[in-house]
Amino acid sequence: MTRLYVHPLPVRIWHWINALGFVALMLTGIQIGYRVFEALPLKPVIDLHCAIGFVLIANYGVWLVYYLFSDRITVYHPELSPRTHYRNVMRQLAYYGYGLFKGQPNPHHVSAYRKFNALQAMTYQIVMILLVPLALYSGVVLWDMQAFAGTVALLGGPRAVNTLHVSLFVGFVAFLFVHIYLTTLGHTAGAHIKAMLNGYEEVEQAGEPAAEPVPAAAVAPAH
Ligand code: HEM
Repeated sequence: MTRLYVHPLPVRIWHWINALGFVALMLTGIQIGYRVFEALPLKPVIDLHCAIGFVLIANYGVWLVYYLFSDRITVYHPELSPRTHYRNVMRQLAYYGYGLFKGQPNPHHVSAYRKFNALQAMTYQIVMILLVPLALYSGVVLWDMQAFAGTVALLGGPRAVNTLHVSLFVGFVAFLFVHIYLTTLGHTAGAHIKAMLNGYEEVEQAGEPAAEPVPAAAVAPAH
């Protein structure tokens, strides 16, 4: 086994603040929308929900700035050939749906600069470049609808903005179930979680040729 440094510190800090924050947003959001605990006053819950939202906006900046100014941005690059990308996505789906249960090897070989398989690269891109910004932005618009009156009108009124915000919440709940299940599919159930905590993924070989040369510091010998 070889240890590959796949999750640099800023990514790990962003990820765990984001994960905790999203769970807190979901819980406070459910209370705001459905008043599960009727005795709880609404205003402090809304204030808490908004405060967590602003923390996550700043935290999103950590993720964005890190990847924009780091050579690790290659992990999010889509395959330039749609045909190859489609084939790799299908291979990965076949592995998750069938090969995995037959003990076949994962078709994707992790490397420091290509840690995501085709399905992950595509999903994480959609989540991080489209859905997370949309959820945060629609939250800010709902937070002060007068200041964003033009945007509210453009999107079709307060109910439309609210529907967008709640639909994204439903999507994130679904994402979270699938995401957490997929993170248990490493060589042990906790291997990917451990990697997201200490940065190092344990892989069977050094990995397929990286998109860019891998600095020696990115590869550490197994203990
Ligand atoms: C609360 C439970 C969560 C757990 C246990 C968890 C676990 C993990 C683990 C183990 C990884 C590394 C494995 C991989 O590369 O696929 C990962 C990566 C990732 N997760 Fe999560 N996650 C959680 C919540 C979230 C949420 C709420 C989001 C977004 C809204 C999210 C977005 C991501 C993204 C974008 C990556 C790739 C990060 C990168 O390396 O650039 N996760 N997660």
